[in-house]
Amino acid sequence: MYAMRNPLISLGICLERAFAECRNQGKRPDLIAISGDLCEDGDEEDYRALRTFIYEKAAGVPVAVTLGNHDSKQSFRAGWLGEEGTQPYNWTQTFGDTCFISLDNSVQGNPNGDFVAGQIEWLRATLAAAGERQTVLMTHHHMIPYQGPVLPVKCSGEFLELIRKSQISCILCGHTHHNFEGLLADKPCFTVDGMSFYGENLDNGAVRFREKFGYSLIVLDQGRVLERRIETFDTGRLLGEFFWK
Ligand SMILES: [Fe+2]
Repeated sequence: MYAMRNPLISLGICLERAFAECRNQGKRPDLIAISGDLCEDGDEEDYRALRTFIYEKAAGVPVAVTLGNHDSKQSFRAGWLGEEGTQPYNWTQTFGDTCFISLDNSVQGNPNGDFVAGQIEWLRATLAAAGERQTVLMTHHHMIPYQGPVLPVKCSGEFLELIRKSQISCILCGHTHHNFEGLLADKPCFTVDGMSFYGENLDNGAVRFREKFGYSLIVLDQGRVLERRIETFDTGRLLGEFFWK
């Protein structure tokens, strides 16, 4: 889109505003979670440059990512992790009393996402290892069927039952660029705004893209979501209108 600005501008604005908001409350973020589609067909150097930008802004706060359908797993692994490989990026780490799990339900070039063999087993084992800790699950693709016009990733009954019976406090998603809140298998499930634009379906079948970006601040305590504050920047800038074939 010719009128789109460099997403690092909006990313910088969001990180600075989020840190300032926390500072004003005498707090410091425990974790920055990035909901995927870090780059559009980026190469190794793109991911390395983005990582440097984010880590400088993060100032020591841990950063968790999941990958989206626009991400290259190979370039991400090379530029972000400094390793080779093309396999899905499933990751977990414990921060204080919170277990954070990033489950990769993206396939590069497939806008609908998918789970691949072995992921449910990995998630089951990871949840078991977390024990009674409050736990956050992040995926790129949203999973709630009624969420909106963008198709969710298909979830098996086995996956939904695993979520339902788990200690998960909330689920974080991206992909749609639209803020949303709902329940997935009885768990609070939040989709965050995108970092660049959002699309509106017009009556004539075209999609209008406008500049909009934002972030969410989520406060957890003893396994429950105490607060979710949404900051959305809607500049009103029209980026373009397109017809999908
Ligand atoms: Fe996406």
